[in-house]
Amino acid sequence: MYDFDSITDRNTPDDIKYEKINGIDDLIPMWVADMDFKSPPEVIGELVRVASNGIYGYSEADASYDEAVTGWFKKRFGWDIKADQILKLPGVVLAISYAVRVLTEPGDHIMIFEPVYGPFRRCVEGNGRKLTIEQLKTAGGHFAVDTAEMEKKIVEDSVKLLVWCSPHNPGGRVWSEDELRSVSGICEKHGVFIVSDEIHSDLTLYGNKHIPMAKIAGDNCVVLTAPTKTFNIAGIQAANIISTNRDVLRRIDREAITTGAFGLNKMGIAATRAAYTYGEPWLEELTAYIEGNINILRKELEDTKLVMMEPEGTYLAWIDCSAYGDISKKLLREAHVRVSEGSFFGMGGENFIRLNVACPRSVLKEALRRIKTVL
Ligand SMILES: Cc1ncc(COP(=O)(O)O)c(C=O)c1O
Repeated sequence: MYDFDSITDRNTPDDIKYEKINGIDDLIPMWVADMDFKSPPEVIGELVRVASNGIYGYSEADASYDEAVTGWFKKRFGWDIKADQILKLPGVVLAISYAVRVLTEPGDHIMIFEPVYGPFRRCVEGNGRKLTIEQLKTAGGHFAVDTAEMEKKIVEDSVKLLVWCSPHNPGGRVWSEDELRSVSGICEKHGVFIVSDEIHSDLTLYGNKHIPMAKIAGDNCVVLTAPTKTFNIAGIQAANIISTNRDVLRRIDREAITTGAFGLNKMGIAATRAAYTYGEPWLEELTAYIEGNINILRKELEDTKLVMMEPEGTYLAWIDCSAYGDISKKLLREAHVRVSEGSFFGMGGENFIRLNVACPRSVLKEALRRIKTVL
């Protein structure tokens, strides 16, 4: 039994989630996507072991690291990866930006589906590429892709690249095989390469199964993975970029080297190896705890006009606040609960909030009590 109920004081000056805002002392932060749970004991143990050595020189992941990564993806998703299909980089967003730069030219169109994690837009526009935004539709209470509209826009704009989010943040969709096949098929047909951000892939709920895009799109995609969301080590900055397309990997690697990003740091290597080797029992319990929190959230929202999109994955709840208008500032000011504003996720995010429920149950209950009082 792991302890997800205890409250850990993470209130240090460099902690983004708990950043002091408006001088509020009793802030409950439910915005940025990291968790209020300690990492698995084996990860902490390994980091302590590395730290206590006292020498923090240049490092390079060895075969034991690759074994941990390939073993994890094989076991969790039945996905066979070879060591030379993994590129280690200090971040998924960094990898999106590199992929944009090496796979497209300035002025090219890149498709994203909004609402989606805000930096997708930044990686496209900041690199001088043009956005082709397709808005996700809502069907049966979930986000869905309008494939006819998607294809039309790809043709109209001569789109070169799709940046895809699977599972989806903020909607919590775990895309089905049929949906992935449709999206991949359209991309293949029109020469659109896929960058699939799968950082949330380990966090699937209620028995939903994640399918890596690479199992469907093969050489026509690169999959961005990381242990950081799963094991709450985002501040350590580690990602594994996976593809059978070695040419694309080589080009991204060259871009990384050019900009001075050499693989992972010592802590990233140690934490990732330990997490993927020993972390599965912890993740199983974490998943059940998050499901429990989502169940509480769902029940508490029943007597409000807030409408939650049922998450199939992630610890994030996408909530329609249309009945109340844009309430994020009001929640901060009056309930002292900080949520992510829907507008951060682009088109279709207006009048939505995203609530991060990866916190001890007592904290979640107090936040919901305050939110309901304010509403
Ligand atoms: C979909 C998605 N991609 C990437 C990231 C950030 O990844 P990294 O910290 O490795 O850049 C996040 C963090 O919330 C995310 O939700």
